[in-house]
Amino acid sequence: MCGIVGYIGDGHAKDIIIEGLKKLEYRGYDSSGIALYIDGKIQVRKQMGRIANLEAVITEKEFDSHLGIGHTRWATHGAPSDVNAHPHGNGDETVAVVHNGIIENYVELREWLSREHGVKFRSETDTEVIAHLIGIYYDGDLVDAVYRAVEKMKGAYAIGVVSSHEPDKIVAVRKDSPLVAGLGEGCNFIASDIPALLRHVRKIYLIENNEVVVLTTGDIKIFNQDRKEVHREVFHVTWDAASAEKDGFDHFMLKEIHEQPKAIEETLSRRLDADGLVKLDGIRMTKEDIESFQKVYIVACGTAYHAGLIGKHAIEKLAKIPVEVDVASEFRYRDPFVDDKTLFIAISQSGETLDTLAALREAKRKGARVLSVVNVVGSSVARESDDVFYTWAGPEIAVASTKAYTTQLVCMYLIALFMGRTKGSLDVETYQSVIRELSAIPEKLRGLLTKEEEIDAIAKDLYRCESVFFIGRGPDASVSFEGSLKLKEISYINSFAVAAGELKHGTIALIEQGTVVIALATQERLFDKMLSNIQEVKARGARVLGIAKEGNVGMEQQADWMITIPDCHDDVAPLMSVVPLQLLAYHIAKLRGCDIDKPKNLAKSVTVE
Ligand code: G6P
Repeated sequence: MCGIVGYIGDGHAKDIIIEGLKKLEYRGYDSSGIALYIDGKIQVRKQMGRIANLEAVITEKEFDSHLGIGHTRWATHGAPSDVNAHPHGNGDETVAVVHNGIIENYVELREWLSREHGVKFRSETDTEVIAHLIGIYYDGDLVDAVYRAVEKMKGAYAIGVVSSHEPDKIVAVRKDSPLVAGLGEGCNFIASDIPALLRHVRKIYLIENNEVVVLTTGDIKIFNQDRKEVHREVFHVTWDAASAEKDGFDHFMLKEIHEQPKAIEETLSRRLDADGLVKLDGIRMTKEDIESFQKVYIVACGTAYHAGLIGKHAIEKLAKIPVEVDVASEFRYRDPFVDDKTLFIAISQSGETLDTLAALREAKRKGARVLSVVNVVGSSVARESDDVFYTWAGPEIAVASTKAYTTQLVCMYLIALFMGRTKGSLDVETYQSVIRELSAIPEKLRGLLTKEEEIDAIAKDLYRCESVFFIGRGPDASVSFEGSLKLKEISYINSFAVAAGELKHGTIALIEQGTVVIALATQERLFDKMLSNIQEVKARGARVLGIAKEGNVGMEQQADWMITIPDCHDDVAPLMSVVPLQLLAYHIAKLRGCDIDKPKNLAKSVTVE
């Protein structure tokens, strides 16, 4: 989704903003632009395509300043084009605006602005109305004009505003779209996400909903909706800038796949005490709360939703509470049965996914207790939850989620274990054995990751195929969904996952000579059933890649290719079986020449509906 960077200070705004925008590329975008204050005027340059295209048109030496805003656009209103790219200006170009989000009443505002103020629009965007509103309301006070404009706007937005009338400041506003302000020395920043600023600042203000932030060279002031100044604690970023760099890997995705053992160790070390028991420091959910839950709802989007599917297996099995899993965009509009005896678990890497946030608010409104599993510290989902279970995966930059997924799984296991023990539905032996199994995962994963060459060789056999089917049963079915998503999102191969037992109810009609089927069979008690499903597809000409645990006999005779994962307890197998699928998707996408970290049409942080 769109990315915003703003800078004011004694440095070179152009270079700092462009560098910041590059750090936000992972969010997904189709055009970029910059507005700088130069010689008494706001100068705007914008270009469709990659940031390199923008750089190519801002080579002039004199095109620099102490003040500016920049943007990467992910098209919502109006096709990707130079004209629709941000920043957008008002009639006399005294105001420039960058925006992430959607102005829902923009049609109404456009009509009103044309009718009442004779405004002529240049672009098809919703954003342009913001620039005109601010221009019209400007009466010697930019902050006042922004407040008046915002009063008219409905929807979700983070905006950054500069004006040639007041070149000593940037004004920014946040409502439901992410925004942070960075506190430097002799300079200050705004951005959609912390990585954009890390090279320059460690001190961050997390801007809350409906707040207006005013940056000057020496100061950052935050005001609430009633125009009262608010005091905000500085958030100190502890992770280093290098963790948001590629570190010798060809792509962030590959780096993040390889970071999984370490990330899981970190997740576990934060939540296991010296005796190996789950500790819930900072989580205020009591024994009485846990006993009162009659139902758990897990709600998320994309990969996080797939983590929720595994969470269901874990919680139902270990804590014996019925669990429903839903995608957030469905949950929020279907009047689900939620009350004060419901535990609502939101899973989100970014903590900014708009649908997940809206679902969380809906659940809260109906009285549910909200626990979130989130990676980005201080994000909106985290802030609006009763309790937060951080995944501590470190920054995940590639659009295709990998280490966030596996750490989300670890959190779901820990939550299930804790609830099971607290309720008394889980005996000590099982509790301890699952914890032992979890603790052994990082080392086993390190072993599994050494099979990358083997997986690359399989990728060479498969990368030209037009479609791939994934099948599995139980937790393997849930991992199949994630494997299929990974493959389609980065390689653009048409892939489809189905619970293996459902195959014969329709999908098997698509299996023909040469069709590739990836069959996951890591669950002991379902192994023979999976062998039968493999036979069914083989009988119709499919070529099968089998994924099973070491020592599982019977699969090699049937599968055309095999990848084994280290032996482990069935319940935690998803933590390992997903890894070959991630690597396979990666190598197939690489062989197909795809833009792996920034797949077309996708965004890392989906802050619109
Ligand atoms: C986008 C990303 C996915 C992610 C999903 C949910 O679609 O491309 O990788 O799984 O959003 O994001 P969240 O930040 O809420 O986990």
